[in-house]
Amino acid sequence: MGRILLLPDEVASQVAAGEVVERPASVVKELVENSIDADANRIEVAIARGGASLMRIVDNGIGMDRDDALLCLERHATSKIRTGADLAKIRTLGFRGEALPSIASVSRFRLSTRAPGALEGTEVLVNGGKIDSVKSSGEAPGTQIEVRSLFYNLPARRKFLRSENTEASHVQHQLNLQAIGHPQVGFVFVRDQNLVFHAPPATTLADRIRDLRGVEFLEQLLEVSPESLSGIMVSGFIGRAGISRSTRAEQILFVNGRPVENITLQHGLREGYHTALMKGQFPVTFLFLEMDPEAVDVNVHPAKREVRFREPDDVKEAVAGAVRKTLERDRKRWSHAFQKPAQTGGLPEFGSGNPIIDTAPALIPPTEQFSLRRDWSGFNPAYPSSEPSAGNSAIERLSFGRQSIDTAGGPSPDDSVPAFTSPSDGSQADLRKASAENSAPRSGSALDFRILGVLGKLYVLMENADGLVVVDQHAAHERILFERLRKQMESAGVPIQRLLIPLTVSVAPKDYDWILMNAPTLEKMGFALEPFGDSTLKVDGIPPFFPTDDPGSAIRKLVDELRSITTMTSRLRMGEDAIAKTVCRHAIKANDDLRLPEIENLIRDLLRCDLPYCCPHGRPTMIQVGFGELEKKFGRKV
Ligand SMILES: Nc1ncnc2c1ncn2[C@@H]1O[C@H](COP(=O)(O)OP(=O)(O)OP(=O)(O)O)[C@@H](O)[C@H]1O
Ligand SMILES: [Mg+2]
Repeated sequence: MGRILLLPDEVASQVAAGEVVERPASVVKELVENSIDADANRIEVAIARGGASLMRIVDNGIGMDRDDALLCLERHATSKIRTGADLAKIRTLGFRGEALPSIASVSRFRLSTRAPGALEGTEVLVNGGKIDSVKSSGEAPGTQIEVRSLFYNLPARRKFLRSENTEASHVQHQLNLQAIGHPQVGFVFVRDQNLVFHAPPATTLADRIRDLRGVEFLEQLLEVSPESLSGIMVSGFIGRAGISRSTRAEQILFVNGRPVENITLQHGLREGYHTALMKGQFPVTFLFLEMDPEAVDVNVHPAKREVRFREPDDVKEAVAGAVRKTLERDRKRWSHAFQKPAQTGGLPEFGSGNPIIDTAPALIPPTEQFSLRRDWSGFNPAYPSSEPSAGNSAIERLSFGRQSIDTAGGPSPDDSVPAFTSPSDGSQADLRKASAENSAPRSGSALDFRILGVLGKLYVLMENADGLVVVDQHAAHERILFERLRKQMESAGVPIQRLLIPLTVSVAPKDYDWILMNAPTLEKMGFALEPFGDSTLKVDGIPPFFPTDDPGSAIRKLVDELRSITTMTSRLRMGEDAIAKTVCRHAIKANDDLRLPEIENLIRDLLRCDLPYCCPHGRPTMIQVGFGELEKKFGRKV
């Protein structure tokens, strides 16, 4: 007799179940997807003990008659495809005819279903894959499935289940995905008899996100204007620049209504966010792609989690483009908040007894009138402040706001208010002169904001039309340097500042090779390096913005950091951008004690950047605290 035997059906189902049913969350996923395919618009899910002891899914969909109720438990029984050709154009979530028999083979299973209009329904009880009983039932139209004692007949599998909390949170994540993917369907989730969430049928995705996650979360997102590129329609919401997570848990992507994981989509997102995303962080997205079902193969993963695209480059470009445009739109919105209003008027004074928040968003005197912008071309060491500042304390800085109004409004400034000085000679007369010179609007510079002061030597507090803006001056400076560096690299390259006495810097042999390999890029960035033998480099030029007090150790630190990036990404993929970001990090930073004109220049330069609201590593450079938010916090508005 031969050694090969056909497995009994029961065992074959258990083997198939091994792939489809990994944990309670996979059961919930399959059953909810079936309910959605059955056109349900209300789905209730209840679990007990993380789902291991019970999962009940109740829907109000099309139900099944008695024959189908029995047939659906057979392997490869499906109503969703008929021929092999159908596999190439799947529009439903399920198509394999495997989920129900797999689940029923590893649990105590009860199916009760009734088609709308049918006089009675059918109840089928299955135990470890064997049908125990079939009878009529009188439940409401729709389908109810109960899965008890998951893996009771596969003890090895049951041992792999994690704590109840962990399993329950996976279930909840699955439900969240489905609820986001299908806003028109109402969802109820009950865990151990406690209601976890109730999301009523929603008309828009925004409503659904708000119902599930709250309004503050929604406010951190930007809506992607639906747009079609190469037949791929992209829509949904993405996190603002600077909003990110350390895992992919909130990087949610749907392709034709199916939540998927896919490397092409991930690359598209990364490319779209570009410098707006910190290294090692993942964006928050609720992105929907709709495309011809023939352009995507969904039959590549047993749990249908992954997909393969026929034209991955088109998909990547569609995603990257949608993200890029959305972030760019947000940038415009930001800069709009810094535009001069059409009309200007008086700004309520501090302590005038006239609370700012009672008025409409403050009308701000044109800041151009006190602008003291110095020419800051090329890589000038960052906003230096070598002369002693006239006012150093926070109070003095705060009073500048009034000073600016006085200057703008005409009457001579109050003598008790220390004046901020111009960098040229520091006199108040000079301040006024410079103000007059600068009062003519510069083209493209109709920016409007008012600096209130500096908090903790780091955060610039300022006011714009929308309320308070807090700027991280270091992050802001990094962004400015980065964009300038990149632009200069793209054109002529950064000018090299020659050292009077060339330096020799010894580095680790591995770093040495890497540096020599990347010498052309480093040269474009202003570093003149030559091999000097024996893992030693001769440095006779550095970029003008690079620290000059101890360039040797600064270069060693820079190389260290570049190396740590290269070990994470492939050496070949190490792009100019990555080098530029690292170089920026080692550049001279804004002096802690910036004076007002310098701060003002910094802000102006920041606002002119392509992506002003986050540093090249993706951290925010500025945070807006709107008047509405302040009013809420002070209990003036609920
Ligand atoms: N909640 C439901 N309401 C109505 N019909 C259902 C429901 N669940 C399952 N069915 C029917 O049972 C069939 C088998 O379901 P099953 O989940 O096993 O396979 P499938 O959904 O076709 O494919 P897949 O294995 O990819 O999920 C479905 O094709 C569908 O016709
Ligand atoms: Mg199914």
